[in-house]
Amino acid sequence: MNNSSLSSAIADVRPFALSLTVAARAALKHQQPCCLWLTGLSGSGKSTLANALEVQLNEQGRHTFVLDGDNVRAGLCSDLGMGVVARKENIRRIGEVARLMVDAGLIVIVSAISPFSADRETARALFGPGQFFEVYVSTPLAICVRRDPKGLYRAALDGRIKDFTGLDSPYEAPRQADCEINTDEVELAEAVAHILAVLFKK
Ligand code: ADX
Repeated sequence: MNNSSLSSAIADVRPFALSLTVAARAALKHQQPCCLWLTGLSGSGKSTLANALEVQLNEQGRHTFVLDGDNVRAGLCSDLGMGVVARKENIRRIGEVARLMVDAGLIVIVSAISPFSADRETARALFGPGQFFEVYVSTPLAICVRRDPKGLYRAALDGRIKDFTGLDSPYEAPRQADCEINTDEVELAEAVAHILAVLFKK
């Protein structure tokens, strides 16, 4: 990726061609920057997995960052709701920030429901070959409802929250994810090892 792939809705904006390449930045960190994109229902275990993946990578001397949907929505995306258009914009912003961080040489772990395939594909298209890995956290809805760590499913089922993913808002599962993890069937340490094995193999 380089500046030539940047674009703007404003015709008079001309991206400045920076001298330093992604490879040059990454070389200082002795790593290949990439984006691990975790998608799945609320309560599926994405944040727990992202957190454990980051800890493991950090212990291996890798420079990382986690972009978690709930965290990003507390700042950069605090103006966005949960309707279809707002979610699309949420994922667009997360994708763009992830891409900037990959350009800076980091291994970025995104943890966001990202319910729509088209938005995930738009995010994927921001990255170069071998830079984007989709991880489908496929924990079934019934398990997520049973876990309900934030009480949000209860609130949604009681009609106190609208547009809840998996209930009255759709979730489009990936068809060809690089990796799939059902956190109801796999221990956390095993899931982390599996995802990192797939990542390093690719
Ligand atoms: S996304 O759909 O735009 O990708 P994102 O991952 O950023 O969602 O945020 C999801 C988080 O917002 C959930 O983990 C949950 O805590 C909270 N949330 C609040 N309202 C909803 C809702 N209607 N549907 C899903 N998650 C919700």
